[in-house]
Amino acid sequence: MACLSTSGRVACVSRRQQTHKFICRLFLNHQLSLRRQSSQLPPAALAAAAQGQCMKKYTNNKPQLVRSFQGLGCGINQDYLSLLQNPHSCSHSSQYSGCLASSIRKHSSVHTQQPAGPVREIQIDPYIILDDELKYFYDDVRDLLQSGTSQPELDTIACYYFDGQGKALRPMVTLLMAKALNYHLNNESHQLVHKQRQIALFSEMVHSASLVHDDVIDQSDFRRGKPSVNALWNHKKVTMAGDYILSIASIMISRLRSDDVTIVLSQILTDLVQGEFMQLGSRETENERFAHYLTKTYRKTASLIANALKATAVIAQADDNVAEVAFQYGRNIGLAFQLVDDMLDFVSSTEQMGKPTAADLKLGLATAPVLFACEKYPELNPMVMRRFSEPGDVERAFELVHKSHGLEQTRFLAKKHCNEAIRLAQELTESPYQKGLQVVADLVINRMK
Ligand code: FPP
Ligand code: MG
Repeated sequence: MACLSTSGRVACVSRRQQTHKFICRLFLNHQLSLRRQSSQLPPAALAAAAQGQCMKKYTNNKPQLVRSFQGLGCGINQDYLSLLQNPHSCSHSSQYSGCLASSIRKHSSVHTQQPAGPVREIQIDPYIILDDELKYFYDDVRDLLQSGTSQPELDTIACYYFDGQGKALRPMVTLLMAKALNYHLNNESHQLVHKQRQIALFSEMVHSASLVHDDVIDQSDFRRGKPSVNALWNHKKVTMAGDYILSIASIMISRLRSDDVTIVLSQILTDLVQGEFMQLGSRETENERFAHYLTKTYRKTASLIANALKATAVIAQADDNVAEVAFQYGRNIGLAFQLVDDMLDFVSSTEQMGKPTAADLKLGLATAPVLFACEKYPELNPMVMRRFSEPGDVERAFELVHKSHGLEQTRFLAKKHCNEAIRLAQELTESPYQKGLQVVADLVINRMK
């Protein structure tokens, strides 16, 4: 059996992972069905439940409804937690379902008066709880691209990076926020979920289109462990393939017929172009340079995540405060992601990253580790200004960054943004998806590639 692992890559899933996935699903279904059934009950029933009163008169004695209702407010109980911690307490797979079923029965009918269980203690894997949504994600992108053209080569080039080998960070976090918001707003209509999926598709398509263009600009050789697109086809065709991905993504969004969503998502495109453009320039003073770097980073990386997440809130008709939580969560995750990326460029191996490392210096770019290192080693300043263009500049700058605290300071800043993202996620109603948003912040700060 194959599914997306935490690295986002398609992998063989072990029995332990399968069990974990099964338990996560069971928990999700159970929690959501409780929510659905409770919403069918009159307010008086909810008030009575809160006071632990008998529910029979509200549920017409329907056993299933009585049981579910008794579970209301319990969150997740100890049976789930012990199963999550020790899934092998049921040794044969055929016993899993029986064991879990009896656990649910216990949860529903025995532990009715337990205090709310801590959802945050469950080890949620965002890629696993989104398995259904992500499974055919890249097939859907390829179908969209293929259906838009009768020119096979254009389709082949456009599809080249949609091979399921990336981290799928953007669609994963967009879908996670969409589900966390829908739970928060108690609105999970199929139509809404479908529209939010289109926003997730848009985020990944625009990201890949920008990588296609970026690889032409950077004349890169390698991406995600394979020759980059510009290494296989000429730059004219590759540039047009990037444009083609953008145009198909734009048609898809225009079909949502929401001016507000179109405006939010269009902002991503202008930010990407301006961020890339800012990267070509530099600033004289250290302060100006850091501000320039942070604005560039927001535009080039964080805006896409922030605005895609905001769009899932806008399409769900969330109020401005909730839309802002989604936006700020995405902004912080995006900034942290790029800071970690800039740090890994100095510490990770080419094999781990699937692309050459120490690449930023070679491209003349002074990222956070260098800018922090300038405080301790002012001799870096002229090198930054001449974009590491003189012989020996790249090697010397690399060495000084490692001798300074630039890498730790970069990680510290990334951690601050991750903590802020976690705080923002906590403003949403507690749910497995909201918990997943917090796990994403951990994945971002701890990633090695
Ligand atoms: C990767 O940067 C590139 C980006 C995140 C965005 C690039 C944006 C453009 C080329 C503007 C064009 C925009 C659109 C909408 C097509 P990197 O070179 O730092 O990272 P890398 O090491 O992965 O190449
Ligand atoms: Mg590049």
